[in-house]
Amino acid sequence: MTRLAIIGGSGLTRLAEFQISERRRFDTPYGTPSADLTFGTLFGQELVFLARHGDAHTLPPHRINYRANLWALHQAGASSIVAVAAVGGIRSDMAPGRLAIPEQIVDYTYGRSHTFFEDDLQHVTHIDFTRPYDPGLRERLLAAGHAANLRMVDGGVYGCTQGPRLETAAEIVRMERDGCDLVGMTGMPEATLARELETPYACCAVIANWAAGKTEREISMAEIEVFLAQGMTDLHRLLAQFLKAV
Ligand code: HPA
Repeated sequence: MTRLAIIGGSGLTRLAEFQISERRRFDTPYGTPSADLTFGTLFGQELVFLARHGDAHTLPPHRINYRANLWALHQAGASSIVAVAAVGGIRSDMAPGRLAIPEQIVDYTYGRSHTFFEDDLQHVTHIDFTRPYDPGLRERLLAAGHAANLRMVDGGVYGCTQGPRLETAAEIVRMERDGCDLVGMTGMPEATLARELETPYACCAVIANWAAGKTEREISMAEIEVFLAQGMTDLHRLLAQFLKAV
């Protein structure tokens, strides 16, 4: 059976109103995913959910086994993937509390197992990654957001940093020069691995704070949590519309 998959990030280890029918542990050739996959229905649609940082939010971004996660979702019949991710806002309209559907990625991560195409190859494989997010899925997420009367940001470049520390102000200035509009820690190699498995993938970014140096203040976890909670309420409304339209 094919079904939509949702990967939940910080602030989303569980989906409200998700009627869980089954919880299944997967073992993959790449190891164990962050958590058991949960299967069930949300707003009448079948879906599978995975908590990216683990059920108890204990896995930092650089320790997530992205390959096991994506492989398990593929085995579970994921027909497309909506990845929910907390981010910091760099561009002036990327304000905390808003949802954005980014269009492009710049990858600053290192040392993460980032491809399925490395061992036992019959030939070297270079996938096309010109548009890292699936255009059709992005459009459907934006339409659902508009139908739910949410102020969505359409587009933007997601800069993926290594973490787990937040960035310096100078790093954000450099990222801005590079064209980044948002900063997060988990977008890569997740997006690449989905493309390698030919699974349409899009990101719903929940803006949790202004990026480092964008305000006078230091970034506090308390502030992040307030805006994440607000963003999650909106995300829930977006998903209700999105699933209704499936
Ligand atoms: N930087 C990187 N990742 C993040 C941030 C940030 O400011 N906020 C939430 N995730």
